[in-house]
Amino acid sequence: MRIKFLSSPHLSLLLTISTLSLSSCSLSVPLPPPLPILPIPTASQLRWQQSEMAMLLHFGPNTFTDSEWGTGHADPSVFAPSSLDTRQWARTAKENGFARMVMTTKHHDGFCLWPSAYTNYSVKSSPWLDGEGDVVGDFAAAAEEFGLELGLYLSPWDRHEPCYGNTQKYNEYYLGQMTELLTRYGDVKEVWLDGAKGEGAKYMDYYFDRWFKLIHQLQPNAIIFSDDGPDSRWVGDEAGFAGSTCWSLFNISDVEIGHTIEEYSEQGDPEGTDWVPAECDVSIRPGWFWHSSEKPKSATTLLDIYYRSVGRNCLLILNVPPNTSGLISNEDLHVLAEFTNIRTAIFSINLAENSTVSSSSVRGNGDTRFDASNVLEESIYSYWAPKEGSPEWVLHLNLGKPISFNVLQLQEPIQMGQRVIRFHLDAIVDGEYKTVINGTTIGYKRLLRFPSVETRFVRLIIDEARADPLISFIGLFVDSYSTTNDLDEDDKRFSSKINTVVRRQWPRRHGQFLNGRTAEM
Ligand SMILES: *[C@@H]1O[C@H](CO)[C@@H](O)[C@H](O)[C@H]1NC(C)=O
Ligand SMILES: *[C@@H]1O[C@H](CO)[C@@H](O)[C@H](O)[C@H]1NC(C)=O
Ligand SMILES: *[C@@H]1O[C@H](CO)[C@@H](O)[C@H](O)[C@H]1NC(C)=O
Ligand SMILES: *[C@@H]1O[C@H](CO)[C@@H](O)[C@H](O)[C@H]1NC(C)=O
Ligand SMILES: *[C@@H]1O[C@H](CO)[C@@H](O)[C@H](O)[C@H]1NC(C)=O
Repeated sequence: MRIKFLSSPHLSLLLTISTLSLSSCSLSVPLPPPLPILPIPTASQLRWQQSEMAMLLHFGPNTFTDSEWGTGHADPSVFAPSSLDTRQWARTAKENGFARMVMTTKHHDGFCLWPSAYTNYSVKSSPWLDGEGDVVGDFAAAAEEFGLELGLYLSPWDRHEPCYGNTQKYNEYYLGQMTELLTRYGDVKEVWLDGAKGEGAKYMDYYFDRWFKLIHQLQPNAIIFSDDGPDSRWVGDEAGFAGSTCWSLFNISDVEIGHTIEEYSEQGDPEGTDWVPAECDVSIRPGWFWHSSEKPKSATTLLDIYYRSVGRNCLLILNVPPNTSGLISNEDLHVLAEFTNIRTAIFSINLAENSTVSSSSVRGNGDTRFDASNVLEESIYSYWAPKEGSPEWVLHLNLGKPISFNVLQLQEPIQMGQRVIRFHLDAIVDGEYKTVINGTTIGYKRLLRFPSVETRFVRLIIDEARADPLISFIGLFVDSYSTTNDLDEDDKRFSSKINTVVRRQWPRRHGQFLNGRTAEM
């Protein structure tokens, strides 16, 4: 190992350069960054979180039988998309800012969208491409062509497979299928599974620990999503809403898959020992599968969901179900384009970008690495750090001239741990500081909406943190699409919880895995 290390010409060159620069500035040795505060994300979790939005696609026999939960007895002949085009799905995802596509390769009905060796209840037995097709293969190829990450959902609950209910046999069956999926289609960046199970379904155990270990062995960079991590957690509701307090910290050992505690999942745990950020799943339509009678949500509704998911330190996974032609419908395409235009209109101009920034203190010996002005650069790798042990943590922004805004964006360098518990933004209005907005938790990204304020001077005060707070970005924006209603609802739904979440002890639940989530998927 060592010999290899020293023999690399690049590394030895790097070593020489860093040795030189150290000795030439020995008079003011730079202070290293502060220590991270555990838990912190893995490299895969960090990459995952920065992608912000993923597209989920529910597709299968349910699309053709107009159902949400198939019985597992639909004839494979129903699966007959007339013009299935996974490239259209990928183009739609790419054009609208989604970094990843996740598809239902097998839903609860047990029908496989790839030709699995372990069952004939699959595309093999369908008329589509005379049984020679592979939707998962086409999906993976389209994702790669458009530079999107690939994610696969494989339902644990299987209403078709005869061995379902036999714990040993079905766990083997599930892992056999998972192995096909994770070895045939290149890099898989997310594996999605849920605890959904209907009333009256046969009782059996899922060997989650073995599943997770094998998934990570086959695809080391894959994020595993479930009610309980290990890499990302279900947010606990299907509205796409996170709590207005939302920690990526969580105790995996306090939750069982199929038995989430909604508030715990929505808000996370400031004392949690595991890094398990939340993923907010929601469908663009009332159902998860496409139904001719249903219409997509409006673009402003999607915007509201964006604020309550991405804007609350979470990943938004938006379900956009293909229709019976095998294409994303025109209505959905229009709504997505409008949603994209609105986001661009709001967030492309940061009104604070030319501010002069100062702070109550700065870490280090006068070098600029931890300077307050770093918060103007939209990157988690440049940040403001206060002097260790400072009595207060304040950032002052002089906007140069009076500016009106109604949205605040904040970010923490989460690679150093999630730190901020409480903060508020003040603005000078009529000659004195007034509080514009109070908030709890920042994390990777926090967006807050409030009534429009006009001012030249603002200050961000961090009221409480788990350790010296680090801030990597402050932005001010104008949103002329959200309504005052959105703000009121924000307060009503969550304000009562803000103070209770931190200290509350969550009951630890034990019990059998029975019904799981009911309305889901
Ligand atoms: C699938 O069908 C073929 C042809 O009928 C049969 O030989 C094979 O055993 C079946 N496989 C499974 C897993 O049922
Ligand atoms: C999470 O685990 C930590 C460490 O064991 C513990 O202090 C904390 O109380 C736990 N959180 C909950 C909600 O039980
Ligand atoms: C599916 O969507 C496409 C647009 O992408 C449209 O042309 C087609 O008519 C739709 N099919 C159905 C059955 O609505
Ligand atoms: C910031 O300054 C640049 C360069 O002068 C200018 O192009 C930009 O419009 C300014 N931004 C704002 C929000 O005023
Ligand atoms: C912020 O919180 C303070 C104290 O908790 C309260 O007095 C103030 O009204 C709040 N301001 C806003 C804008 O919510």
